[in-house]
Amino acid sequence: MTSARFPDDFVFGTATSAFQIEGGWDADGKGPSIWDTFSRRPGAIWQDQRADVSCDHYHRSAEDVRLLSSIGVDAYRFSISWPRVLPEGTGRPNPAGLAFYDRLVDDLLAAGIAPSATLFHWDLPQALEDRGGWPSRDSIDWFGEYAGLMFDSLGDRVPQWSTLNEPIALWVGYGLGGFAPGRTDRAAAHQAMHNALVAHGRAVDVFRASRATGEIGIVIDVWKRHPATDHPDDAAAALRGEQDGFRFFFDPLFAGGYDEAMLARFDAQGSGFQIADGDLEQIARPIDFVGLNVYSRIIARADQEVDEWWKALEQHPGGNYLANGMEFYPRAAYDAIRIVTDEYGVDLPIFITENGMSDTVQTSAGETADDDERIRYVSGFLEWIARARAEGADVRGYYLWSLMDNFEWAAGYSQRFGIVHVDWDTLERTPKRSAYWYRDLIASRSLPV
Ligand code: NOJ
Repeated sequence: MTSARFPDDFVFGTATSAFQIEGGWDADGKGPSIWDTFSRRPGAIWQDQRADVSCDHYHRSAEDVRLLSSIGVDAYRFSISWPRVLPEGTGRPNPAGLAFYDRLVDDLLAAGIAPSATLFHWDLPQALEDRGGWPSRDSIDWFGEYAGLMFDSLGDRVPQWSTLNEPIALWVGYGLGGFAPGRTDRAAAHQAMHNALVAHGRAVDVFRASRATGEIGIVIDVWKRHPATDHPDDAAAALRGEQDGFRFFFDPLFAGGYDEAMLARFDAQGSGFQIADGDLEQIARPIDFVGLNVYSRIIARADQEVDEWWKALEQHPGGNYLANGMEFYPRAAYDAIRIVTDEYGVDLPIFITENGMSDTVQTSAGETADDDERIRYVSGFLEWIARARAEGADVRGYYLWSLMDNFEWAAGYSQRFGIVHVDWDTLERTPKRSAYWYRDLIASRSLPV
């Protein structure tokens, strides 16, 4: 491919999430989240690590905004910790929690960086889990209340809002037990995913009724399945995998309802879920943009159950693999965009809300890590995004995951996704080579040939 140019109004940003970077897990009145609880369960997280401190962004946000400034990003995508602003999940807000996000948003704006806020990036208040969590229909009201609080608090200054980030995480958390809250109940998991979609629609209504001035959307991760062989059983497995993954969300958001074959399959497995009157209309409320998280693709085989996601990570002959074991497949961005525009016929602005990779570079604070593999990875994805744009897709922006190394959920600190290195003893931040490269890319708006 040739070099690619991006217009001046194309948004280049970086992304993070609250639980992964903030630390301050019980600071200033914050309540525990399900991830605080889960990470205290022996064996749940790699080496039993915890995010009590993590990058300590809660106490260092001013420094981190300066870091963002030095990279020259147009925008910064972060998430709000629900239990930081509502320690009980509903009811009494925590003024210190609200003040933290207030300051962050003001600091970003003062630095000329557009804030992009995500309401739910997996850290449900533990108090709400104790009341049934996402499998309870009450979660729709809880989320609506929380969303309203944040729109009232920041709606005059935040131009971009995402309701949910990668709600498939609820499958892993309630169905597979690999994420918080660590339950293994398939029916509860499907109900949780459905309720979260209805809650998304509720938040959109609350947003429209509020004085917020920005735009609202949802973030879905797209892992396209490619059949391992041309055997029809592998094609069927690929379709099942997509239905249980991103299509579970896209179908009711953009195609009027859930796939009938998928619902029948869930029923046969005893893992169906209740859809109340009006739910499908609520889910399909018009939104302003679609956020896509893209990392790679999955090779599907009939002998691989959809639950066994780790088998999908097995290397296949002819694949191009990163040192971390993930397939380097930059066309995944183009395919995800085309699925939205061509298959679902969605005519909305698209943002790539996450793309990135973990590196295996050994380095210490103060040394510039040579993460050239990340530069090649991001370049590859941006070339495919540029191609989709050249063919007419309305892709408006790209958020690199992540600004800095952080707590990678069940993998703890074993995965470094940052363009900025974090020393886990001193918490010193040191930009990697990719941070300088990204700075130059943003300044020139073009990929070097
Ligand atoms: C998906 C999630 O949104 C984010 O929290 C995670 O760290 C990255 N992708 C990398 O796995």
